[in-house]
Amino acid sequence: MLEKCKYPIIQAPMAGGISTVALAAAVSKNGGLGFLAAGYKTAGALEKEILEMEQIGVLYGVNVFVPSKEPVEQDVGTYKTLLEKDWDMELELPAWSDDEWQQKLTLLKRYKVPAASFTFGCPNKEIIKDLQEQGIYIIITVTDANEARLAQQAGADAVCLQGIEAGGHRGSFENSDLQESRPLIDLLREVRKTVEIPVITAGGIMEGWQIAELIQAGAAAVQLGTAFICCEESGANQLYKRALIERQFTSTKLTRTFTGRLARGLENDFMHRYEAVAPAVYPTLHFLTQSIRKKALASENTQAMSMWAGEGFQRVRAMPVKELMEKLVAEASLS
Ligand SMILES: Cc1cc2nc3c(=O)[nH]c(=O)nc-3n(C[C@H](O)[C@H](O)[C@H](O)COP(=O)(O)O)c2cc1C
Repeated sequence: MLEKCKYPIIQAPMAGGISTVALAAAVSKNGGLGFLAAGYKTAGALEKEILEMEQIGVLYGVNVFVPSKEPVEQDVGTYKTLLEKDWDMELELPAWSDDEWQQKLTLLKRYKVPAASFTFGCPNKEIIKDLQEQGIYIIITVTDANEARLAQQAGADAVCLQGIEAGGHRGSFENSDLQESRPLIDLLREVRKTVEIPVITAGGIMEGWQIAELIQAGAAAVQLGTAFICCEESGANQLYKRALIERQFTSTKLTRTFTGRLARGLENDFMHRYEAVAPAVYPTLHFLTQSIRKKALASENTQAMSMWAGEGFQRVRAMPVKELMEKLVAEASLS
C-alpha cells in the first residue's frame, strides 16, 4: 500500500473539520497519501466524504477513533460547575459515546477503503482480519514500543508512531499520563528493533530535511499534521490559521482541559486556568467544553480555543498543498 504512493508522505487525519476531502485529495494527487478523519463525525457525514473521495478516484485512508471505557469514578461535576460559573453558561453533560464505532467499521468494509488507521487503541485480531480481507491496509497509532508490539501481534500492517512533539491528541491506547517523552527519532530506533512491520513516524515534522532524516533512520513513511493546517485546502478556521501564520503564540503545551485526554495545542489561558481541575474523562470533556469553544471562536477569543499544533508550529507554511508537497519533496531530495 505505502509503495503505491509516489512519496512516503502522509497527511495526518485531523478531526474537527481540518481534514477536508479537498485537503486529502490534494495530498494524494500530489504523490502523498491523504487521510479523512472520522473522529466526532456521524457515520452519515463520513459516508458522504468517502463517496466524494471515491468519485475523485485517488488513494486515501480513513482514521477512526477506537472507543474506550470511561473511568466512572472521576468527578466531572466539579469541573462543570467551575466552567459554568466562569463562562456564565449552562453546560450539558453528555452521555458516553462510542463515536458510531460499528457503523464506521461497516462503512470501511462497504467501500473497501484503501487504508484505515486507528487511534486510541488497537482493534482486536478478528476486526483487523475482517478489514484486511476486504483489501484494507491497517495502520495502528502507537506512542511507544509496547503498543507497537501489541499492534503487530493483533495483525496490523503498519504502525504510526507518534512522538511527544506531535500536535493533537496523544494516540496512546490508554488515557494515561505521559509515559514516553523521548524525541521521535530515538523512539523510532527502539520501535524498529521491537517490530518488523513498517513504522510510519509522526510528530513535529515540518520540513523536508526531517523527512530525509527519519527515512534514513528507518521510517517507512512520515505523517504530517500541523504542516498542512495552513494550506488553502485545510478546513481550519481563519482565527486558527492566523494564530499560526502570524506566530501569535510562542509555545505549545500538552493539556487535558479541552477534552479529558492529553493533546498538544497552542498554549493559552484556558489550559492554565483549568489544568489542575480537568479530570481525565474522554471524550466527555470534549463535549462538555464544546459550547465554550464555539463561543470563544465567535468572539475571536483565541485564549479559550483548542488550537492543536505540534512543536514545529513556528515553521508552518501557508500555501496550496501542491506547493507544500513540492517543497517537502525537494527539501527531502525524494524526487
Ligand atoms: C489539528 C489536529 C487534529 C488531529 N486529529 C487527529 C485525528 O483525528 N486522528 C488521529 O489519529 N490523529 C490526529 N492528530 C494527530 C496526527 O495524527 C499526528 O500525530 C500529528 O499531527 C503529528 O504531529 P504534527 O502535528 O507535529 O505533524 C491531529 C493533529 C492535529 C494537529
